[in-house]
Amino acid sequence: MDRILIRGRNRLSGRVPISGAKNAALTLMPCAILTDEPLTLRNLPRLADVDGFGHLLNQLGASTAIEGTRPDEFGRVMTIRAGKVTSTEAPYDIVRKMRASILVLGPILAREGRARVSLPGGCAIGNRPIDLHLKALEALGAELEFTSGYVEARAPHGRLPGGRYTFPVVSVGATENALMAAATAGGSSCLDNAAREPEIVDLCRCLVAMGARIEGIGTERLEVEGVDRLHGATYAVMPDRIEAGSYACAAVIAGGDLTLAGADAAEMGATLAALRSMGAEVEEVPGGIRVAAEGRPKPLELSTAPYPGFATDMQAQFMAVLALADGTSVLTETIFENRYMHVPELARMGADVRVSGRTAVVRGVTGLTGAPVMATDLRASMSLILAGLAAEGETQVSRVYHLDRGYERLEEKLSAVGADIERASDG
Ligand code: EPZ
Repeated sequence: MDRILIRGRNRLSGRVPISGAKNAALTLMPCAILTDEPLTLRNLPRLADVDGFGHLLNQLGASTAIEGTRPDEFGRVMTIRAGKVTSTEAPYDIVRKMRASILVLGPILAREGRARVSLPGGCAIGNRPIDLHLKALEALGAELEFTSGYVEARAPHGRLPGGRYTFPVVSVGATENALMAAATAGGSSCLDNAAREPEIVDLCRCLVAMGARIEGIGTERLEVEGVDRLHGATYAVMPDRIEAGSYACAAVIAGGDLTLAGADAAEMGATLAALRSMGAEVEEVPGGIRVAAEGRPKPLELSTAPYPGFATDMQAQFMAVLALADGTSVLTETIFENRYMHVPELARMGADVRVSGRTAVVRGVTGLTGAPVMATDLRASMSLILAGLAAEGETQVSRVYHLDRGYERLEEKLSAVGADIERASDG
């Protein structure tokens, strides 16, 4: 199993290319099921989850062709053809490894009038039920049954009629599933209190490029006029705002001056505001964002929230930075009930964090020390990498398969700007 070794205290400077967004890619790929024509996705990140989703689409009968890109290039181009859907089932063996597989439920149901998808089961960061996905699809006219760990969905008369649904809480995934199902429904649909994340906007834009009719893009009310069929399209995945925010934290925790090439400040409002409050210099530059910082960050009070609030996917990375702040910070995690798995690992490096319920009090220390630590989930693993960049001595992060799910060629990107970092494989 691979480990990542970091020898900290190097100042970082230079250009970090930001890849396409994982959380956009995972909802754009299933759109291919909604048409029998090819969907070409550009700027697709090279990530384990994207590969996993490709395998799931193949399992359903779609072909996935990757256009050659130079090995030194980041991202790639994939053309997905679901000329014929040969299976309407997403099996447990695939879904248990990647929760985002649930995002084929809406598209298969819309395309074939029936779908059988394994229930995803638990996750390290929280229970993560899918009840809202199911309730939204029922509101669009689906009939659901549950048998041996699977949900069986049917569209009466083979096509969903469409309908209205108000989400009791904001859910990114449930909004995405309902949107994809509504795009080819027999009538119009209205989704209220829908998620407004930039990844949802990216999904809407891709669906519109395929011929869908959607009003209210970017707002909490999405109105979808179902169309008889969608056509193929070529679409570029948006830049990854969470990856960009993670590297911005690297510039603050290690000290330095980084340009996040391809990042879009318009989609990172809350993250950039928090960076500025910590004392970082943040400016939009042609083709990206520049982040520079020296010395100890200022402490903060931060509470995660649905977009445009502060992203839960940035909480762990900010905790690593605030562990070295000149004062005490308070973080509140409002989205997931178990997203502090990085705390005991950061404590092994000398961080002083006290968690009670959803709140973490972070007393800034003057320095961290390298240690062997273990990744527990995707963003927690990035917080350990960040702590390693600032720590005295060597940090060894194990279970880095978590990291590979969401960060494309991280060691390459960091060593190119001055970090002393490498991957070691235990064979
Ligand atoms: C998406 O997960 C992202 N994943 C997550 O990123 C991200 O943390 C999350 O949105 C919130 O921004 C992908 O896009 C693949 P939700 P998702 O449905 O869709 C509850 C990362 O690190 N809920 O918005 O699963 C749920 O338990 C990952 O890249 C229900 O109760 O998140 C949570 O408390 C981690 N019932 C809250 O809503 C439901 O049916 C928000 O979840 C659905 C969700």
